[in-house]
Amino acid sequence: MSATQHEAKSTGCAEFRDVMASFPAGVTVNTTVDSDGQWWGFTASAFCSLSADPPLVLVCLAKSAECYPAFMSSDSIAIHFVQKQFEGLARTFATRGADKFTGHPFELTPRGLPVLRELGSVLECSVFARYDGGDHTIIVGRVEDALLGSSDPVVFYKRDFHSLPLPPEGDVPVSGSSS
Ligand SMILES: Cc1cc2nc3c(=O)[nH]c(=O)nc-3n(C[C@H](O)[C@H](O)[C@H](O)COP(=O)(O)O)c2cc1C
Repeated sequence: MSATQHEAKSTGCAEFRDVMASFPAGVTVNTTVDSDGQWWGFTASAFCSLSADPPLVLVCLAKSAECYPAFMSSDSIAIHFVQKQFEGLARTFATRGADKFTGHPFELTPRGLPVLRELGSVLECSVFARYDGGDHTIIVGRVEDALLGSSDPVVFYKRDFHSLPLPPEGDVPVSGSSS
């Protein structure tokens, strides 16, 4: 590869990252348990809804993550939608080697997943499939239980956390009232 080609490739990567940073995304904290009973978790904005029937969602995890082996071997995952007052915890779950669970009242659900209800809405999922996605793996979860949170979500945009200005409660359409 010539120097010019290399420069073009690097610039492309930087531009790709900048463009992706300009896409506002919700923030999730994902947790699971390994076969020794150890809890693992990571913050992810690469999350989306995938299918209504069956109810599927997906989240993408870097192959380089310390928690990667745990999420590749476990058969279930809890996905929390982070509310704005938990930005600090989202940063902790995005820090390799951090003590992620201590000091927060995570509790094991009957399905055996560590869940923190106050963090936000929670989807408890069984792992439906995993797909290769370059330097990430796409984990597809089948939603087994859904718990709705009560507060405002946080949004990650231009490499920082932001709060949404929400419309007054009466102006928010509810499920099934799209007309
Ligand atoms: C707002 C935000 C979004 C992130 N989104 C993702 C993501 O979608 N996938 C991912 O693998 N890492 C993502 N990360 C980085 C991981 O949370 C971080 O690398 C984490 O420490 C990986 O887990 P580990 O501590 O077990 O290595 C994100 C970090 C932040 C702050």
